[in-house]
Amino acid sequence: MAETPNTIKHVASPLARQTLLDSSLTRPVAGVRPIRLLPWLQVVKIGGRAIMDRGADAILPLVAELRALLPEHRMLILTGAGIRARHLYGVGLDLGLPVGSLAPLAASEAGQNGHILAAMLAPDGVSYVEHPTIANQLSIHLAAARAVVGSAFPPYHHHEFPTSRIPPHRADTGAFLIADALGAAGLTIVEDVDGVHDADPNGPDGATARLIRETTSAELADRAGPLPFDRALVDVMATARHIEKVQVVNGLKPGSLTAALRGEHVGTLIHTGARRA
Ligand SMILES: Nc1ncnc2c1ncn2[C@@H]1O[C@H](COP(=O)(O)OP(=O)(O)O)[C@@H](O)[C@H]1O
Ligand SMILES: [Mg+2]
Repeated sequence: MAETPNTIKHVASPLARQTLLDSSLTRPVAGVRPIRLLPWLQVVKIGGRAIMDRGADAILPLVAELRALLPEHRMLILTGAGIRARHLYGVGLDLGLPVGSLAPLAASEAGQNGHILAAMLAPDGVSYVEHPTIANQLSIHLAAARAVVGSAFPPYHHHEFPTSRIPPHRADTGAFLIADALGAAGLTIVEDVDGVHDADPNGPDGATARLIRETTSAELADRAGPLPFDRALVDVMATARHIEKVQVVNGLKPGSLTAALRGEHVGTLIHTGARRA
């Protein structure tokens, strides 16, 4: 009996019979640039230690600034973890907890800080939303409100990479990954220093630390020493698809965030590996 292929059962797909491990085969299909889902979105990451842990003195002026920005920008405001996560790391590491147990604990503090910030902006229509909402329902939320608040921590949780005992993918990495995945217009990281310096301005060599006004993720990758954000951020910036630059600004200086969102150069500009389409 002649074999007649049942084409109804075949799904036409360029990758159907390919191994996904051979880049020469996948590149023609997977090499295209992803679309921007929310090209008008401004992502703002607020430091847990740098801003939230300082309490009212730092939070209230920033809340006033964010409130004033609402008519101008549609924002995803993401908060990081601070002192409570550091305490958790200390206790957890002392007990020998693996990194996959520490990551969700630290992430919960980033969420707590988000709830605090969202409560302060609630009269302006801003509320806290969870990760699945950010992933799938941000568009409808931002059609109803000018901004939402979420946790900046990426939800690696128990799947966190065991490359170090402290979770390597923290709030800055999470904020960048979601901003790039959404094809946002920009990402601004709000710290308690004017930007990236050549040494920690609050460290032993602080007196001579100089502000780096403009740099690239590649230059930062070559630079040893501490940064005011996760090291993993430097790695993910290298392979960015949309976010071409990130600005680090001082949230303790009123007006810095506003200027940054208006495209002014007030802090440190970091150029990523993403190229303009
Ligand atoms: N190269 C650097 N340039 C600027 N700040 C730095 C640098 N290295 C370390 N820091 C420190 O990082 C601090 C911010 O701490 P960080 O842990 O990033 O806070 P947050 O968790 O709130 O983002 C700054 O106050 C500064 O002292
Ligand atoms: Mg920081």
